[in-house]
Amino acid sequence: SADRPLIGRKALVTAGPTHEPIDPVRFIANRSSGKQGYAIAAALHDMGADVTLVSGPTTLPTPAGVQRIDVETAREMLAACRRALPVDIAVCVAAVGDWRPTAPSTVKLKKTPVTPRALELIENPDILAEISRPGPERPQLVVGFAAETDAHLADAVHKRQRKGCDWLVANDVSPGADIFGSAENQVSLVSEAGVDPWPRMPKNAVAARLATLIARHLVGDG
Ligand code: C5P
Repeated sequence: SADRPLIGRKALVTAGPTHEPIDPVRFIANRSSGKQGYAIAAALHDMGADVTLVSGPTTLPTPAGVQRIDVETAREMLAACRRALPVDIAVCVAAVGDWRPTAPSTVKLKKTPVTPRALELIENPDILAEISRPGPERPQLVVGFAAETDAHLADAVHKRQRKGCDWLVANDVSPGADIFGSAENQVSLVSEAGVDPWPRMPKNAVAARLATLIARHLVGDG
């Protein structure tokens, strides 16, 4: 129907941070509340999509009608995303840890005798790049997010190409912009067509606008 143009479509959304264990009580994490990703999952559901939300640890309630899969690490997130495929739409909003400790300790590390100690890190898989890779299971539309600390839109243009996604939503996370954990966001939509800066608006409004564009792209409606 006109107000639910995504009925019959499947969507995958990643959201929140990942936690990469150092030992049983410590981890490396990214700064992410999950609000923007959860709002996108809710907006896609409102438009009729069958939504799977793969979420790192957050304190947010599951949006009504959305199937949520909880994960902690980047590798768990990738595995959960693979299990959710095939989908028509993938929106990768999660702040995935780029690295993880090479060999997490199975026992809590002691402060003594050696302080501080170096932490050896290894690169995590890039979930967005994996999902974007051409193949039979590639979603029709893959959307990534990119947190940039200032007017790094040129980087976002290159990042879209490097990751292989269709659209990249670049958001301004400069200290003065007050975005992390906030209810508002200021983004630019980077696509093959160019860079479209959106005004600052509530994260729910960013989600609704993005969902509308997604629906229009997929079904020429909404
Ligand atoms: O390269 P950067 O981390 O800025 O890219 C951000 C985008 O890539 C986001 O869409 C994020 O969800 C995704 N990403 C990912 N897996 C990673 C790193 C980033 O899916 N390991």
